[in-house]
Amino acid sequence: MNLADSEIVGSILTKSGYALTRDIDAADYILINTCAIRDNAEQRIRKRLRELRALQRQRQWVKVGILGCMAERLKQQLLEEEDNVSFIVGPDAYRKLPDMLAHVHDGEKMAETLLSDVETYADIDPVRYDTNGISAYISIMRGCQNYCAYCVVPYTRGKERSRDPESIVREAQELFDKGFREVTLLGQNVNSYRWEAESGKQEAESGKRKAESGDVEAESGERKAESGEGSVGSVGFPELMERVAEVSPLLRVRFATSHPKDLSDELLQVMARHDNICKCIHLPVQSGSERILKLMNRRYTPEWYLNRIEAIRHYLPDCSITTDVIAGFCTETEEDHQATLEMFRKVRYDYAYMFKFSMRPNTYAAKHLQDDVPDDVKTRRLEEIIALQGAIALENNQKEIGKVYEVLIEGVSHRSDQQLFGRNSQNKVIVFDRGTLQPGQYARIRVTKCTSATLIGEVAE
Ligand code: 5AD
Ligand code: SF4
Repeated sequence: MNLADSEIVGSILTKSGYALTRDIDAADYILINTCAIRDNAEQRIRKRLRELRALQRQRQWVKVGILGCMAERLKQQLLEEEDNVSFIVGPDAYRKLPDMLAHVHDGEKMAETLLSDVETYADIDPVRYDTNGISAYISIMRGCQNYCAYCVVPYTRGKERSRDPESIVREAQELFDKGFREVTLLGQNVNSYRWEAESGKQEAESGKRKAESGDVEAESGERKAESGEGSVGSVGFPELMERVAEVSPLLRVRFATSHPKDLSDELLQVMARHDNICKCIHLPVQSGSERILKLMNRRYTPEWYLNRIEAIRHYLPDCSITTDVIAGFCTETEEDHQATLEMFRKVRYDYAYMFKFSMRPNTYAAKHLQDDVPDDVKTRRLEEIIALQGAIALENNQKEIGKVYEVLIEGVSHRSDQQLFGRNSQNKVIVFDRGTLQPGQYARIRVTKCTSATLIGEVAE
Protein backbone atom coordinates (compact mmCIF):
# COMPACT_ATOMS: atom_id res chain seq x y z
CA MET A 1 0.00 0.00 0.00
CA ASN A 2 2.83 2.39 0.81
CA LEU A 3 4.62 1.51 -2.41
CA ALA A 4 1.43 2.34 -4.32
CA ASP A 5 1.10 5.61 -2.39
CA SER A 6 4.72 6.53 -3.11
CA GLU A 7 3.97 6.10 -6.80
CA ILE A 8 1.08 8.57 -6.43
CA VAL A 9 3.36 11.04 -4.64
CA GLY A 10 5.96 10.55 -7.40
CA SER A 11 3.33 11.41 -9.97
CA ILE A 12 2.08 14.52 -8.15
CA LEU A 13 5.60 15.87 -7.78
CA THR A 14 6.89 15.07 -11.27
CA LYS A 15 3.82 16.81 -12.72
CA SER A 16 4.83 19.92 -10.74
CA GLY A 17 8.30 19.94 -12.22
CA TYR A 18 10.23 17.92 -9.67
CA ALA A 19 12.34 14.94 -10.78
CA LEU A 20 12.82 11.64 -8.99
CA THR A 21 16.29 10.39 -8.17
CA ARG A 22 17.51 7.11 -6.74
CA ASP A 23 20.77 8.79 -5.72
CA ILE A 24 20.32 10.18 -2.24
CA ASP A 25 23.33 12.48 -2.73
CA ALA A 26 21.59 14.14 -5.66
CA ALA A 27 18.36 14.80 -3.73
CA ASP A 28 17.26 18.20 -2.46
CA TYR A 29 14.18 16.74 -0.78
CA ILE A 30 14.06 13.34 0.89
CA LEU A 31 10.57 11.95 1.45
CA ILE A 32 10.12 8.97 3.73
CA ASN A 33 6.83 7.08 3.45
CA THR A 34 6.09 5.46 6.78
CA CYS A 35 4.11 2.70 8.45
CA ALA A 36 2.73 2.89 11.99
CA ILE A 37 1.30 -0.58 12.34
CA ARG A 38 3.83 -1.79 14.92
CA ASP A 39 6.23 0.15 17.10
CA ASN A 40 9.30 -1.36 15.41
CA ALA A 41 8.21 0.13 12.05
CA GLU A 42 8.30 3.57 13.66
CA GLN A 43 11.61 2.88 15.40
CA ARG A 44 13.18 2.10 12.02
CA ILE A 45 12.11 5.51 10.75
CA ARG A 46 13.57 7.22 13.83
CA LYS A 47 16.85 5.42 13.13
CA ARG A 48 16.78 6.46 9.47
CA LEU A 49 16.24 10.07 10.55
CA ARG A 50 19.30 9.91 12.81
CA GLU A 51 21.34 8.50 9.92
CA LEU A 52 20.23 11.37 7.67
CA ARG A 53 21.67 13.97 10.05
CA ALA A 54 25.21 13.50 8.71
CA LEU A 55 24.03 14.03 5.15
CA GLN A 56 22.08 17.12 6.18
CA ARG A 57 25.14 18.57 7.94
CA GLN A 58 27.06 18.35 4.69
CA ARG A 59 24.25 19.51 2.43
CA GLN A 60 22.38 21.94 4.58
CA TRP A 61 19.70 22.82 2.07
CA VAL A 62 18.40 19.24 1.98
CA LYS A 63 14.89 19.00 3.48
CA VAL A 64 13.45 15.81 4.90
CA GLY A 65 9.72 15.06 4.99
CA ILE A 66 7.73 12.28 6.61
CA LEU A 67 4.72 10.88 4.74
CA GLY A 68 2.17 8.19 5.54
CA CYS A 69 0.77 6.65 8.68
CA MET A 70 3.46 7.68 11.15
CA ALA A 71 3.07 11.28 9.93
CA GLU A 72 -0.69 11.03 10.39
CA ARG A 73 -0.42 9.46 13.83
CA LEU A 74 2.07 11.93 15.30
CA LYS A 75 1.27 15.07 13.29
CA GLN A 76 2.95 18.26 14.57
CA GLN A 77 4.52 16.31 17.43
CA LEU A 78 6.91 14.69 14.96
CA LEU A 79 8.21 18.13 13.91
CA GLU A 80 8.91 18.89 17.55
CA GLU A 81 10.57 15.56 18.28
CA GLU A 82 12.73 15.32 15.15
CA ASP A 83 14.35 18.67 14.43
CA ASN A 84 15.80 17.60 11.10
CA VAL A 85 12.31 17.02 9.68
CA SER A 86 10.76 19.95 7.77
CA PHE A 87 7.41 18.63 6.65
CA ILE A 88 4.77 16.11 7.63
CA VAL A 89 2.12 14.85 5.18
CA GLY A 90 -0.68 12.41 6.00
CA PRO A 91 -2.00 9.82 3.49
CA ASP A 92 -4.88 12.01 2.26
CA ALA A 93 -2.89 15.23 1.82
CA TYR A 94 -0.42 14.33 -0.93
CA ARG A 95 -1.95 16.79 -3.40
CA LYS A 96 -0.72 19.56 -1.09
CA LEU A 97 2.92 18.53 -1.50
CA PRO A 98 3.91 20.86 -4.39
CA ASP A 99 2.61 23.92 -2.50
CA MET A 100 4.20 22.73 0.71
CA LEU A 101 7.61 22.22 -0.88
CA ALA A 102 7.60 25.82 -2.07
CA HIS A 103 7.16 26.99 1.52
CA VAL A 104 9.53 24.39 2.93
CA HIS A 105 12.15 25.56 0.44
CA ASP A 106 11.97 29.00 2.09
CA GLY A 107 12.64 27.50 5.49
CA GLU A 108 9.11 26.98 6.81
CA LYS A 109 8.09 23.87 8.71
CA MET A 110 4.71 22.44 7.82
CA ALA A 111 2.29 19.66 8.69
CA GLU A 112 -0.74 18.66 6.57
CA THR A 113 -2.59 15.78 8.14
CA LEU A 114 -6.26 16.33 7.41
CA LEU A 115 -7.99 13.06 6.56
CA SER A 116 -10.59 13.04 3.81
CA ASP A 117 -13.86 11.15 3.30
CA VAL A 118 -13.51 11.24 -0.48
CA GLU A 119 -9.86 11.35 -1.60
CA THR A 120 -8.95 8.32 -3.74
CA TYR A 121 -6.37 9.90 -6.09
CA ALA A 122 -8.46 8.33 -8.89
CA ASP A 123 -7.32 10.83 -11.51
CA ILE A 124 -3.64 10.42 -10.74
CA ASP A 125 -1.63 8.17 -12.97
CA PRO A 126 1.01 6.71 -10.63
CA VAL A 127 4.67 6.93 -11.68
CA ARG A 128 5.84 3.31 -11.65
CA TYR A 129 9.23 3.17 -10.06
CA ASP A 130 11.00 0.25 -8.43
CA THR A 131 9.11 -1.78 -11.01
CA ASN A 132 10.02 -4.87 -12.98
CA GLY A 133 7.71 -3.66 -15.75
CA ILE A 134 5.58 -6.80 -15.27
CA SER A 135 3.66 -6.45 -11.99
CA ALA A 136 1.97 -3.33 -10.66
CA TYR A 137 -0.30 -2.31 -7.80
CA ILE A 138 -3.59 -0.53 -8.30
CA SER A 139 -5.12 1.09 -5.26
CA ILE A 140 -8.91 0.59 -5.43
CA MET A 141 -10.02 1.86 -2.06
CA ARG A 142 -8.59 3.69 0.90
CA GLY A 143 -9.14 3.72 4.63
CA CYS A 144 -10.66 1.22 7.01
CA GLN A 145 -13.38 1.42 9.59
CA ASN A 146 -13.31 -2.05 11.00
CA TYR A 147 -11.64 -0.87 14.20
CA CYS A 148 -9.92 -4.10 15.15
CA ALA A 149 -8.93 -3.49 18.75
CA TYR A 150 -5.17 -3.68 18.12
CA CYS A 151 -5.00 -1.70 14.90
CA VAL A 152 -3.96 1.88 14.25
CA VAL A 153 -5.03 1.95 10.57
CA PRO A 154 -8.56 3.40 11.04
CA TYR A 155 -6.92 6.33 12.85
CA THR A 156 -4.16 6.92 10.30
CA ARG A 157 -5.98 6.23 7.04
CA GLY A 158 -9.48 7.42 7.82
CA LYS A 159 -12.84 6.24 6.56
CA GLU A 160 -13.35 3.66 3.85
CA ARG A 161 -13.91 5.05 0.38
CA SER A 162 -13.88 3.36 -3.01
CA ARG A 163 -12.42 4.56 -6.24
CA ASP A 164 -14.38 4.97 -9.46
CA PRO A 165 -14.33 1.58 -11.28
CA GLU A 166 -13.90 3.24 -14.67
CA SER A 167 -10.60 4.74 -13.55
CA ILE A 168 -9.48 1.38 -12.16
CA VAL A 169 -10.25 -0.53 -15.36
CA ARG A 170 -8.60 2.21 -17.41
CA GLU A 171 -5.46 2.00 -15.28
CA ALA A 172 -5.35 -1.79 -15.70
CA GLN A 173 -5.79 -1.44 -19.48
CA GLU A 174 -3.00 1.15 -19.69
CA LEU A 175 -0.67 -1.05 -17.69
CA PHE A 176 -1.45 -3.99 -19.95
CA ASP A 177 -0.82 -1.86 -23.04
CA LYS A 178 2.58 -0.89 -21.60
CA GLY A 179 3.51 -4.57 -21.27
CA PHE A 180 2.54 -5.23 -17.65
CA ARG A 181 1.12 -8.72 -17.14
CA GLU A 182 -0.06 -8.66 -13.52
CA VAL A 183 -2.00 -6.20 -11.40
CA THR A 184 -2.75 -6.42 -7.70
CA LEU A 185 -5.87 -4.55 -6.58
CA LEU A 186 -5.16 -3.04 -3.21
CA GLY A 187 -7.27 -1.98 -0.27
CA GLN A 188 -7.32 -2.49 3.50
CA ASN A 189 -10.48 -4.50 3.03
CA VAL A 190 -11.12 -5.01 -0.68
CA ASN A 191 -14.40 -6.86 -0.16
CA SER A 192 -15.86 -3.62 1.15
CA TYR A 193 -15.27 -2.07 -2.24
CA ARG A 194 -18.48 -0.39 -3.46
CA TRP A 195 -19.04 2.36 -5.93
CA GLU A 196 -22.46 4.00 -6.32
CA ALA A 197 -22.39 5.65 -9.73
CA GLU A 198 -25.83 7.22 -9.88
CA SER A 199 -25.31 9.62 -7.06
CA GLY A 200 -21.62 9.78 -7.88
CA LYS A 201 -20.82 8.71 -4.39
CA GLN A 202 -19.20 5.59 -3.10
CA GLU A 203 -20.03 3.78 0.03
CA ALA A 204 -18.19 1.28 2.10
CA GLU A 205 -19.98 -1.99 2.10
CA SER A 206 -18.45 -3.85 5.01
CA GLY A 207 -20.97 -5.63 7.07
CA LYS A 208 -23.61 -5.10 4.43
CA ARG A 209 -23.76 -8.68 3.44
CA LYS A 210 -25.28 -10.68 6.21
CA ALA A 211 -23.47 -13.77 7.25
CA GLU A 212 -24.25 -16.32 4.60
CA SER A 213 -24.10 -19.10 7.07
CA GLY A 214 -22.75 -19.48 10.56
CA ASP A 215 -23.54 -17.32 13.49
CA VAL A 216 -21.64 -14.11 12.98
CA GLU A 217 -23.80 -11.03 12.94
CA ALA A 218 -22.78 -8.60 10.26
CA GLU A 219 -21.98 -5.13 11.45
CA SER A 220 -25.01 -3.01 12.19
CA GLY A 221 -25.05 0.77 12.41
CA GLU A 222 -25.91 3.32 9.78
CA ARG A 223 -24.54 1.17 6.99
CA LYS A 224 -27.70 -0.83 6.39
CA ALA A 225 -28.05 -3.90 4.29
CA GLU A 226 -29.40 -3.02 0.91
CA SER A 227 -30.57 -5.39 -1.74
CA GLY A 228 -29.75 -5.25 -5.42
CA GLU A 229 -26.02 -5.77 -5.37
CA GLY A 230 -24.68 -5.38 -8.89
CA SER A 231 -27.75 -3.31 -9.81
CA VAL A 232 -27.41 -0.49 -12.31
CA GLY A 233 -24.94 2.09 -11.20
CA SER A 234 -23.59 0.08 -8.30
CA VAL A 235 -20.34 -1.85 -8.51
CA GLY A 236 -19.18 -4.22 -5.80
CA PHE A 237 -15.85 -6.02 -5.54
CA PRO A 238 -16.77 -9.24 -7.42
CA GLU A 239 -18.01 -7.20 -10.37
CA LEU A 240 -14.93 -4.98 -10.31
CA MET A 241 -12.70 -8.07 -10.34
CA GLU A 242 -14.60 -9.41 -13.30
CA ARG A 243 -14.22 -6.16 -15.24
CA VAL A 244 -10.48 -5.98 -14.58
CA ALA A 245 -10.07 -9.67 -15.49
CA GLU A 246 -11.78 -8.95 -18.81
CA VAL A 247 -9.08 -6.44 -19.81
CA SER A 248 -7.14 -9.42 -21.23
CA PRO A 249 -6.81 -13.14 -20.48
CA LEU A 250 -3.05 -12.45 -20.46
CA LEU A 251 -3.36 -10.01 -17.56
CA ARG A 252 -3.17 -11.70 -14.18
CA VAL A 253 -5.27 -10.16 -11.44
CA ARG A 254 -4.54 -10.45 -7.72
CA PHE A 255 -6.01 -8.64 -4.74
CA ALA A 256 -5.22 -7.90 -1.12
CA THR A 257 -6.53 -7.90 1.55
CA SER A 258 -9.85 -9.57 2.33
CA HIS A 259 -11.47 -9.49 5.74
CA PRO A 260 -12.85 -12.98 6.54
CA LYS A 261 -16.20 -11.57 7.65
CA ASP A 262 -16.79 -10.19 4.14
CA LEU A 263 -15.40 -12.98 1.95
CA SER A 264 -18.44 -13.79 -0.17
CA ASP A 265 -19.27 -16.90 -2.19
CA GLU A 266 -19.98 -14.56 -5.08
CA LEU A 267 -16.33 -13.46 -5.17
CA LEU A 268 -15.17 -17.09 -5.08
CA GLN A 269 -17.48 -17.87 -8.01
CA VAL A 270 -16.05 -14.98 -10.03
CA MET A 271 -12.54 -16.23 -9.23
CA ALA A 272 -13.49 -19.71 -10.41
CA ARG A 273 -14.84 -18.35 -13.71
CA HIS A 274 -11.66 -16.52 -14.72
CA ASP A 275 -8.37 -18.35 -15.20
CA ASN A 276 -6.46 -15.08 -15.02
CA ILE A 277 -7.76 -14.22 -11.56
CA CYS A 278 -4.99 -15.74 -9.46
CA LYS A 279 -5.88 -18.57 -7.15
CA CYS A 280 -4.42 -17.14 -4.00
CA ILE A 281 -6.35 -15.65 -1.10
CA HIS A 282 -4.82 -13.74 1.76
CA LEU A 283 -7.21 -14.14 4.68
CA PRO A 284 -5.78 -12.75 7.91
CA VAL A 285 -6.91 -14.91 10.84
CA GLN A 286 -5.09 -12.97 13.63
CA SER A 287 -5.92 -15.62 16.26
CA GLY A 288 -7.48 -19.07 16.50
CA SER A 289 -9.15 -18.39 19.84
CA GLU A 290 -12.82 -17.44 19.92
CA ARG A 291 -12.35 -15.32 23.02
CA ILE A 292 -9.36 -13.42 21.61
CA LEU A 293 -11.09 -12.86 18.26
CA LYS A 294 -14.00 -11.33 20.12
CA LEU A 295 -11.70 -9.13 22.16
CA MET A 296 -9.95 -8.09 18.94
CA ASN A 297 -13.35 -7.07 17.49
CA ARG A 298 -12.74 -9.25 14.44
CA ARG A 299 -16.45 -10.10 14.20
CA TYR A 300 -16.00 -13.74 13.25
CA THR A 301 -15.55 -16.94 15.21
CA PRO A 302 -13.04 -19.71 14.43
CA GLU A 303 -16.00 -21.75 13.09
CA TRP A 304 -17.00 -18.94 10.76
CA TYR A 305 -13.42 -18.58 9.56
CA LEU A 306 -13.13 -22.32 8.90
CA ASN A 307 -16.42 -22.20 7.03
CA ARG A 308 -14.90 -19.56 4.72
CA ILE A 309 -11.82 -21.79 4.24
CA GLU A 310 -14.17 -24.64 3.30
CA ALA A 311 -15.92 -22.36 0.80
CA ILE A 312 -12.55 -21.48 -0.77
CA ARG A 313 -11.62 -25.17 -1.03
CA HIS A 314 -15.06 -25.92 -2.49
CA TYR A 315 -15.05 -23.31 -5.28
CA LEU A 316 -11.28 -23.14 -5.84
CA PRO A 317 -9.70 -26.52 -5.06
CA ASP A 318 -6.24 -25.40 -6.20
CA CYS A 319 -6.26 -22.06 -4.36
CA SER A 320 -3.41 -21.20 -2.00
CA ILE A 321 -4.32 -19.55 1.28
CA THR A 322 -2.11 -17.19 3.27
CA THR A 323 -2.68 -15.30 6.51
CA ASP A 324 -1.59 -12.79 9.14
CA VAL A 325 -1.42 -13.73 12.81
CA ILE A 326 -0.65 -11.87 16.02
CA ALA A 327 1.02 -13.63 18.97
CA GLY A 328 0.48 -12.37 22.50
CA PHE A 329 -2.52 -10.07 22.21
CA CYS A 330 -3.83 -8.69 25.52
CA THR A 331 -4.91 -11.44 27.96
CA GLU A 332 -3.85 -14.25 25.59
CA THR A 333 -3.48 -17.47 27.58
CA GLU A 334 -1.61 -20.65 26.74
CA GLU A 335 -4.95 -22.17 25.78
CA ASP A 336 -5.67 -19.30 23.36
CA HIS A 337 -2.23 -19.75 21.85
CA GLN A 338 -2.85 -23.49 21.42
CA ALA A 339 -6.07 -22.61 19.58
CA THR A 340 -4.02 -20.52 17.15
CA LEU A 341 -1.62 -23.42 16.55
CA GLU A 342 -4.64 -25.66 16.03
CA MET A 343 -6.03 -23.22 13.45
CA PHE A 344 -2.71 -23.37 11.58
CA ARG A 345 -2.81 -27.18 11.62
CA LYS A 346 -6.37 -27.19 10.30
CA VAL A 347 -5.96 -24.64 7.52
CA ARG A 348 -2.39 -25.55 6.51
CA TYR A 349 -1.53 -22.10 5.14
CA ASP A 350 0.88 -21.76 2.24
CA TYR A 351 2.41 -18.66 3.76
CA ALA A 352 1.90 -16.54 6.87
CA TYR A 353 2.98 -13.11 8.08
CA MET A 354 3.51 -13.63 11.79
CA PHE A 355 3.79 -10.80 14.33
CA LYS A 356 4.22 -10.15 18.02
CA PHE A 357 1.49 -7.93 19.39
CA SER A 358 2.61 -4.33 19.65
CA MET A 359 0.40 -1.96 21.64
CA ARG A 360 -0.50 1.10 19.54
CA PRO A 361 -1.56 4.37 21.16
CA ASN A 362 -5.22 5.40 20.80
CA THR A 363 -6.52 1.99 19.75
CA TYR A 364 -9.28 0.24 21.68
CA ALA A 365 -6.64 -2.04 23.18
CA ALA A 366 -4.58 0.92 24.41
CA LYS A 367 -7.64 2.52 25.99
CA HIS A 368 -9.30 -0.52 27.53
CA LEU A 369 -6.90 -3.47 27.77
CA GLN A 370 -3.57 -4.32 29.36
CA ASP A 371 -0.52 -5.36 27.36
CA ASP A 372 -0.12 -8.15 29.88
CA VAL A 373 1.63 -10.97 27.99
CA PRO A 374 5.35 -10.68 28.89
CA ASP A 375 7.65 -10.08 25.96
CA ASP A 376 9.52 -13.38 26.39
CA VAL A 377 6.20 -15.25 26.30
CA LYS A 378 5.15 -13.38 23.13
CA THR A 379 8.49 -14.27 21.56
CA ARG A 380 8.20 -17.93 22.48
CA ARG A 381 4.63 -18.17 21.16
CA LEU A 382 5.63 -16.41 17.95
CA GLU A 383 8.55 -18.82 17.50
CA GLU A 384 6.22 -21.78 17.96
CA ILE A 385 3.89 -20.45 15.28
CA ILE A 386 6.84 -19.77 12.93
CA ALA A 387 8.23 -23.29 13.44
CA LEU A 388 4.85 -24.94 12.84
CA GLN A 389 4.17 -22.81 9.77
CA GLY A 390 7.65 -23.55 8.36
CA ALA A 391 6.99 -27.29 8.60
CA ILE A 392 3.53 -26.96 7.03
CA ALA A 393 4.82 -24.78 4.15
CA LEU A 394 7.54 -27.34 3.41
CA GLU A 395 5.01 -30.21 3.40
CA ASN A 396 2.67 -28.19 1.17
CA ASN A 397 5.53 -27.47 -1.24
CA GLN A 398 6.62 -31.12 -1.31
CA LYS A 399 3.15 -31.96 -2.60
CA GLU A 400 3.82 -29.65 -5.56
CA ILE A 401 6.65 -31.82 -6.88
CA GLY A 402 5.73 -33.26 -10.26
CA LYS A 403 2.97 -30.71 -10.95
CA VAL A 404 3.12 -28.41 -13.97
CA TYR A 405 2.24 -24.74 -13.54
CA GLU A 406 1.87 -21.75 -15.80
CA VAL A 407 4.45 -19.29 -14.52
CA LEU A 408 4.65 -15.57 -15.25
CA ILE A 409 8.38 -14.89 -15.51
CA GLU A 410 9.34 -11.88 -13.40
CA GLY A 411 13.11 -11.69 -13.65
CA VAL A 412 16.55 -13.21 -13.36
CA SER A 413 17.18 -15.27 -10.23
CA HIS A 414 19.28 -13.56 -7.56
CA ARG A 415 21.45 -16.66 -7.24
CA SER A 416 22.42 -17.20 -10.88
CA ASP A 417 21.94 -15.25 -14.10
CA GLN A 418 21.41 -18.58 -15.84
CA GLN A 419 18.14 -18.96 -13.96
CA LEU A 420 14.84 -17.12 -14.07
CA PHE A 421 12.12 -16.85 -11.46
CA GLY A 422 8.42 -16.27 -11.62
CA ARG A 423 5.22 -17.12 -9.81
CA ASN A 424 2.39 -19.48 -10.44
CA SER A 425 -1.22 -18.46 -10.02
CA GLN A 426 -0.97 -19.55 -6.37
CA ASN A 427 1.73 -16.87 -5.88
CA LYS A 428 4.47 -19.42 -5.21
CA VAL A 429 7.93 -18.49 -6.46
CA ILE A 430 9.42 -20.98 -8.93
CA VAL A 431 13.08 -20.88 -10.07
CA PHE A 432 14.16 -22.65 -13.27
CA ASP A 433 16.87 -22.68 -15.96
CA ARG A 434 16.72 -19.80 -18.33
CA GLY A 435 16.85 -21.46 -21.76
CA THR A 436 15.52 -19.01 -24.33
CA LEU A 437 12.82 -17.57 -22.07
CA GLN A 438 12.43 -13.88 -21.15
CA PRO A 439 10.88 -11.99 -18.23
CA GLY A 440 7.28 -10.98 -19.01
CA GLN A 441 6.56 -14.28 -20.80
CA TYR A 442 4.43 -17.13 -19.54
CA ALA A 443 6.03 -20.58 -19.37
CA ARG A 444 4.86 -24.04 -18.35
CA ILE A 445 7.14 -25.27 -15.60
CA ARG A 446 7.26 -28.68 -13.91
CA VAL A 447 8.20 -28.58 -10.21
CA THR A 448 11.15 -30.89 -9.47
CA LYS A 449 12.36 -29.82 -6.01
CA CYS A 450 11.48 -27.39 -3.22
CA THR A 451 12.38 -25.63 0.00
CA SER A 452 9.79 -24.22 2.42
CA ALA A 453 9.90 -20.89 0.56
CA THR A 454 10.68 -21.72 -3.08
CA LEU A 455 9.83 -24.25 -5.76
CA ILE A 456 12.50 -25.33 -8.21
CA GLY A 457 11.47 -26.53 -11.66
CA GLU A 458 12.19 -27.09 -15.30
CA VAL A 459 10.49 -26.14 -18.57
CA ALA A 460 7.73 -28.70 -19.09
CA GLU A 461 7.87 -29.22 -22.85
N1 5AD B 1 0.59 -5.51 16.64
C1 5AD B 1 1.02 -6.55 15.88
N2 5AD B 1 0.56 -6.80 14.64
C2 5AD B 1 -0.37 -5.96 14.14
N3 5AD B 1 -1.02 -5.96 12.97
C3 5AD B 1 -1.85 -4.92 12.94
N4 5AD B 1 -1.77 -4.23 14.09
C4 5AD B 1 -0.86 -4.87 14.86
C5 5AD B 1 -0.33 -4.65 16.17
N5 5AD B 1 -0.76 -3.63 16.93
C6 5AD B 1 -0.83 -6.99 11.94
C7 5AD B 1 -2.13 -7.72 11.62
C8 5AD B 1 -2.49 -7.17 10.28
C9 5AD B 1 -1.14 -6.92 9.67
C10 5AD B 1 -1.12 -6.00 8.51
O1 5AD B 1 -0.40 -6.39 10.73
O2 5AD B 1 -1.85 -9.11 11.56
O3 5AD B 1 -3.26 -8.09 9.51
FE1 SF4 C 1 -6.60 -2.85 10.82
FE2 SF4 C 1 -8.66 -4.52 11.14
FE3 SF4 C 1 -8.77 -2.53 9.31
FE4 SF4 C 1 -7.14 -4.64 8.88
S1 SF4 C 1 -9.40 -4.72 9.03
S2 SF4 C 1 -6.62 -2.45 8.62
S3 SF4 C 1 -6.48 -5.13 10.97
S4 SF4 C 1 -8.67 -2.29 11.55
